[in-house]
Amino acid sequence: MVNVIFCGFGEDQDKRVFAKEGDVLLRVASNNGVTIPTDCQDGMCGSCAVRIEELNDAPSTQFESKVDPDAWDKDKYTTYMEDKELETLVEMGAITKKEAETAQQYVQQTPVRLACQCIIKGAMLVKPFE
Ligand code: FES
Repeated sequence: MVNVIFCGFGEDQDKRVFAKEGDVLLRVASNNGVTIPTDCQDGMCGSCAVRIEELNDAPSTQFESKVDPDAWDKDKYTTYMEDKELETLVEMGAITKKEAETAQQYVQQTPVRLACQCIIKGAMLVKPFE
């Protein structure tokens, strides 16, 4: 179980919850009374975009990659993002094409994610994307 902290969603929705690794962020939010707007639930519309910060109690070495150690941020855990999600985030201007390429290259998540596509890998802080 990992900590997921929702912040900025409203007084009654800002909370810390425990989530299972591998669960989808949107489902965790919904199951805990946190409202994240959705439309397609398939990574295409961008309505469920949220800001993500990885927290320090993320799993450590088991998710490390063997990529370039100079560019690799060891404080972040490995997160594979589907092309579909990255393309949607670039199209809506939430991230740059360069950020998308870097995320793919180093298998790390971008600071904005689509909650319907975000598989929880470690502790995170989740804020609305505005
Ligand atoms: S609900 Fe459409 S991208 Fe997540």
